[in-house]
Amino acid sequence: MSDQNNADRSGIFAGDDPFDIARAWLKEAEASEPNDANAIALSTVDASGLPNARMVLLKEIEDAAFVFYTNYGSAKAQELDSAEKAAFVMHHKSLRRQIRVRGVISREDGPQADAYYASRSLKSRLGAWASQQSRPLSSRAALVTEVAKVTAKHGTAPKRPPFWGGYRLEPVEIEFWADGAFRLHDRFRWTRTGRDAHWQVDRLNP
Ligand SMILES: Cc1cc2nc3c(=O)[nH]c(=O)nc-3n(C[C@H](O)[C@H](O)[C@H](O)COP(=O)(O)O)c2cc1C
Repeated sequence: MSDQNNADRSGIFAGDDPFDIARAWLKEAEASEPNDANAIALSTVDASGLPNARMVLLKEIEDAAFVFYTNYGSAKAQELDSAEKAAFVMHHKSLRRQIRVRGVISREDGPQADAYYASRSLKSRLGAWASQQSRPLSSRAALVTEVAKVTAKHGTAPKRPPFWGGYRLEPVEIEFWADGAFRLHDRFRWTRTGRDAHWQVDRLNP
């Protein structure tokens, strides 16, 4: 890790692990945001290079990655699977802070996804079975009928659908931004080339 800015990084920006800083910022936001402090705007590109963005919930901050869950048949899943890269931003209005992340994507389609699926409410678990996310739906009633069907079929202990699971974003870049007086915001960008490489930290102009 580069030390050139360590002396300059104090308070909320201090530390030598950006995942620790992200965890700390999220924890603080959970106490001050009205809801969904873990909501992130996930950005992808489609096959033509046209950007796309939507909110998802960040479910895990691991030692070297961020994990979220979705439907593998959705538009975002197609874009994640084909580009194998994505970005997201998390904005905490109550704290006037943002975290920006860019990196490499892979699926989390194993026991960790099973465990997260099992932790969700029964309605959410059945909803995952019922929704063909991002594909056209003839009516709300058709979806309600589908929920009744999957409820009859899967009962009270549904297994994780094969078309639903997680994605892991392993960052090559994480930027922490905090509002400063007179628009003189603080920005620190952490970059590295891969999981085993050291982080370079740069203070950026606002
Ligand atoms: C606050 C918030 C959280 C959301 N969390 C998720 C999520 O964790 N997973 C998900 O698949 N969709 C989530 N959604 C819905 C997505 O924004 C989106 O509508 C859906 O995933 C379909 O996106 P796509 O067509 O680009 O694949 C969330 C929406 C909001 C507003």
